[in-house]
Amino acid sequence: MSDIGFRASADGEVAARASGDIAGTPAFAAILIDTFGADNVSAGAALGTRRFRDWSDTRGVEPLALLRPRDVDTVSRMLAFCHAHGQTVVTQGGLSGLAGGANLLGGEVALSLERMQAIEEIDAVSGTIRVQAGAILQRVQEAAEAANLMMPLDLGARGSCTIGGNLATNAGGNRVIKYGMARESVLGIEAVLADGTIVSDLHKMIKNNSGYDLKQLLVGSEGTLAVITRAVLRLAPRPRAVSTAWCGLSSFAGVTTLLTQARERLGGGVSAFEVMWPSYYDFVTRHVAGIKAPLAGPHAFHVLLESEGSDPARHAEDVEALLASLMEDGVIDDAVLAASTSDAAALWQVRDATAEFPVLMPGLIGFDISFAIADLESVATECAAVLEARWPGITTLFYGHLGDGNLHLIAHHPAPPPGLEEAVDAAVYDVTRRWRGAVSAEHGIGGKKRAYLTHTRDAGAMAAMRAIKRALDPHNILNPGKVFDLPPDAPSAATRGAVSC
Ligand code: LAC
Ligand code: ZN
Repeated sequence: MSDIGFRASADGEVAARASGDIAGTPAFAAILIDTFGADNVSAGAALGTRRFRDWSDTRGVEPLALLRPRDVDTVSRMLAFCHAHGQTVVTQGGLSGLAGGANLLGGEVALSLERMQAIEEIDAVSGTIRVQAGAILQRVQEAAEAANLMMPLDLGARGSCTIGGNLATNAGGNRVIKYGMARESVLGIEAVLADGTIVSDLHKMIKNNSGYDLKQLLVGSEGTLAVITRAVLRLAPRPRAVSTAWCGLSSFAGVTTLLTQARERLGGGVSAFEVMWPSYYDFVTRHVAGIKAPLAGPHAFHVLLESEGSDPARHAEDVEALLASLMEDGVIDDAVLAASTSDAAALWQVRDATAEFPVLMPGLIGFDISFAIADLESVATECAAVLEARWPGITTLFYGHLGDGNLHLIAHHPAPPPGLEEAVDAAVYDVTRRWRGAVSAEHGIGGKKRAYLTHTRDAGAMAAMRAIKRALDPHNILNPGKVFDLPPDAPSAATRGAVSC
């Protein structure tokens, strides 16, 4: 390949002798293979039937090549090489995202850390686990459990999502109310910047005010600032008692009273507070196979309340007493408390039935928005009214992690007119803007919500984010076109002649 002008030196340092504008072309894939070896780089037919798109329905194409390094030094050399030649790179984890953040727009190489899955150390005294970023969340949960500890982060895609992806998207899930989002679980990080610089910050300390907190800058940056390669995560003690209850309520005021009372009276143990509007509950109990309605009658709101304690008998008593007194006060209309882990699983099944939605409602339009908790009822009512007035016959299902202010909305039209998704997006994000909410609560901006980021972030914040991006990724090679656009004056792979997205 010397005719194209690249070489790898004996000590592994990769240098460019001359640069043609071949980034983004198949010729560059051949150079990558030549430079890093066919074991580390595949392209063309060697990609086989591998999936390169996430779970969203957003656009995504095949990569120019797939990079599968085995160690951080190789990640560093690969990024340095791509940086030098303006080759765009999209890091992909378990591809379970819902915002198109890991999808390829054209001309990029995909970088997978699937060969970097090691669970390297559990420190029971510090309560930490050190893992490589390709580790699957469920494996990390299991390793923590085997050490009698708990990995707090949990979400539906646990069997396929990776720690690197969880951190890159600052994933949320069902236990955020007690343990926080992914960023609350990170104590240390190792990452590679766009130019190949390794930032190694693998500490175990909870207190560390030594300069800027770079790890928190990279968490939630959706692959646009660095490639996370390793992390030290904070584990929690394994709860000895978990109580799961299902409550039916007749008003939103009842729902917020239940939340505040549960927080006050269960000693900080509330670990999930999932709320479902009747539209959701009725749809799931009618259409999803194997789901048993937890309560007999209709209710204006359904709440799945989970809480953790240290003593099983005492904790169950506390939860029972809470529910009994709130029923007596007329806050809760009806409730059931799981008597076994299989009872609890059946209750969670009603909430996890969302996994069936794409099959039951092809072409559904999903939302992940957040607001002040007190505003959630009004926001849901307004969204439903706006959509139903404009598209009679549209189905709207509301549910979410109410304790986190996080609302999910599913809109589905039986006979979607052209342009429906764009118009529904615009309508819902307009309501979001007016209520000063966030256009993404936990799924990220990715490619899908880019146009709406300014509904949530002001001009000063946008300018600061763009300045950070330019400083850390001056050639705009990392996941370009995601989260926000860089104005044309910024040097980018596209403006320097690579295949444009
Ligand atoms: C959920 C995913 C969609 O909460 O965030 O079901
Ligand atoms: Zn969610």
